[in-house]
Amino acid sequence: MSGVLGPLIRQAGRDLRTRSGDAAGRRVARAGSVDELREASRRALPKVIYEFVEGGANDERTVRRNVEDLDALALLPRTLVDVSGVDHGTTVLGRRVGLPVLGAPTGLCGLVHHDGEIALARALHGADSVYVLAAMSSYAIEEVAAATPGPLWFQTYLWRDRGVVRALLDRAAAAGAEALVVTVDVPRSAERHRDRRNGFGLPPRLTPRTVLEGVRHPRWTADLLRRPRITAANVAEGPAGGDAVSVAGYVDAQFDPSATWEDLAELRAAWTGPLVVKGILHPLDARRAVQLGADAVVVSNHGGRQLDHAASSISRLPAVVDEVGDALEVYLDGGVRRGSDVVKALALGARACLVGRPIVHGLGAGGEAGAARAMTLFAAEVRTALMLLGAPDVEALGPGHVVAAP
Ligand SMILES: Cc1cc2nc3c(=O)[nH]c(=O)nc-3n(C[C@H](O)[C@H](O)[C@H](O)COP(=O)(O)O)c2cc1C
Repeated sequence: MSGVLGPLIRQAGRDLRTRSGDAAGRRVARAGSVDELREASRRALPKVIYEFVEGGANDERTVRRNVEDLDALALLPRTLVDVSGVDHGTTVLGRRVGLPVLGAPTGLCGLVHHDGEIALARALHGADSVYVLAAMSSYAIEEVAAATPGPLWFQTYLWRDRGVVRALLDRAAAAGAEALVVTVDVPRSAERHRDRRNGFGLPPRLTPRTVLEGVRHPRWTADLLRRPRITAANVAEGPAGGDAVSVAGYVDAQFDPSATWEDLAELRAAWTGPLVVKGILHPLDARRAVQLGADAVVVSNHGGRQLDHAASSISRLPAVVDEVGDALEVYLDGGVRRGSDVVKALALGARACLVGRPIVHGLGAGGEAGAARAMTLFAAEVRTALMLLGAPDVEALGPGHVVAAP
């Protein structure tokens, strides 16, 4: 009997996956905003995974502030400008991109979808842009580089074991990474109350609640069981070795509260390509980055995932641009959800924005197609905003296009 039932059950599982896959595809194709993708992702994922992506530090004041402070800026259009040939391309570190929206580094995306960072990289390249691969990615840098020919930048932290960081740099260079992004706002891991409440951990813990969540999200669970990607591949294949438990413990112990600008200078000397410093809010820190020989800074508070109550990124952008805007490229991330947000940041002096949650929610909603949908929406919205603002290209944007909303 079981010989008959087995294939039937497997077929039913395949049918269910196909049907829910089709439904996800339709939801993604219909999504008219990043917010709708976020909602689709919320439905598709177990709560513990969705909240790992969406959540932030402590009371999430900074998560909200990033969005609210962008909302508090109004756009001031100029009229009767020829915008018939509008162009939203730009260059970042000398490379031409079709859209001033880059993929922010986000670790452990294999928990969200089994294609993880490979899907994200492909979606960014499909949008003619750059993907920044996190050191904590679920897929190894070599795997991502082999899966997509587009431009990759590689992000790392100043971990305690500098030998490990140097080995990652060598691997990134060998895999063709065009720039190194060093994240400097993580001297320690932060308090994330949603993760604590949900019991988020690596590997995902099996409790009655997580099993129930798994049953309620069969597609995600089937993917996880078929091709689990629950660890940080770059680290697992290196020093920590072994299973997900040892990787999680290893990484947590690697954040280095004693790291200083001198340590960053050593990385600068070790990496021959362009260097981007991510996690700057203070103009004097941006100045230090210039002195050190950095090529760009990202004005960022880690999407509100590190210091809660930190200033929003957009509120600090003008001061950083004033201080160093003529010496290096300034990017912004945190709270960018619409093309109008991108345009506001560019008007205030950013060269490009990075987006984290928007593409990861797209990934949760529908894999590569979902992340690609997020990028398509950004492209369409930036284009529309530029035309309606009377700006034929991104160079035409300036502080005069933005006013504080009353
Ligand atoms: C799920 C997730 C994982 C992240 N992992 C990393 C990481 O490994 N390294 C890093 O520098 N930033 C990481 N970030 C922060 C992003 O690079 C970026 O600063 C932030 O997401 C921008 O805010 P936004 O999500 O509002 O766009 C992560 C963000 C999210 C949402």
